[in-house]
Amino acid sequence: MTYLSEGVLSHGLRVAVRPMSPDDRAELQAGFQQLSEDTKYRRFMCSKPRLTSADAHLLFDCEGLAVVLVWPRTSCDDVVLGIAHAIPVPGQPGTAEFCVVVADEIQGRGAGHLLTDALVQQARLEGIEYLTGYMFASNKAPARLLAGAGEVIEDRIEAGAREMKVRIS
Ligand SMILES: CC(C)(COP(=O)(O)OP(=O)(O)OC[C@H]1O[C@@H](n2cnc3c(N)ncnc32)[C@H](O)[C@@H]1OP(=O)(O)O)[C@@H](O)C(=O)NCCC(=O)NCCS
Repeated sequence: MTYLSEGVLSHGLRVAVRPMSPDDRAELQAGFQQLSEDTKYRRFMCSKPRLTSADAHLLFDCEGLAVVLVWPRTSCDDVVLGIAHAIPVPGQPGTAEFCVVVADEIQGRGAGHLLTDALVQQARLEGIEYLTGYMFASNKAPARLLAGAGEVIEDRIEAGAREMKVRIS
């Protein structure tokens, strides 16, 4: 397996990032079900007891980029621990929406940074110039990740939601 990047989380777990593959779908769907209610709420900004078929289509079948963070194991399959998307924004060529989530157990240990760095690198290669992000205003981690991805050119907070746009090229 060729990885886009490899790294070590702050508690010592060795991880790697690779493009999402169609073979990841079942594991990712199961993984979404295992996320805490709080993590799903921050990711989708609404209550999400289960993924709808529209969610699954957007996450797994849509055009755009997706990279997964895995725990690589030599004797058996990688374990998927997180995913980041750059989903094309309709009517805005060169602009994609940044979405990211990692397993509860590894949050706050550098996984978001590894995923975002790899996604941004791939996005630049695909000619994406801008990433947008939509998050709760209180949700600091994705704002930090986006701010670190390039030059922040829009950053608005309204009614508890934050919208950012970052130039990555
Ligand atoms: C957003 C998310 C992917 C970040 O991944 P992570 O592995 O926890 O983040 P990292 O450890 O790489 O930290 C990234 C940055 O956020 C900061 N951060 C992480 N958790 C934080 C918290 N709870 N409060 C404030 N800042 C936080 C880190 O200090 C770091 O800042 P830096 O850029 O100054 O170094 C993860 O928290 C998550 O899955 N959240 C739920 C889903 C979500 O909110 N998605 C965003 C909307 S699409």
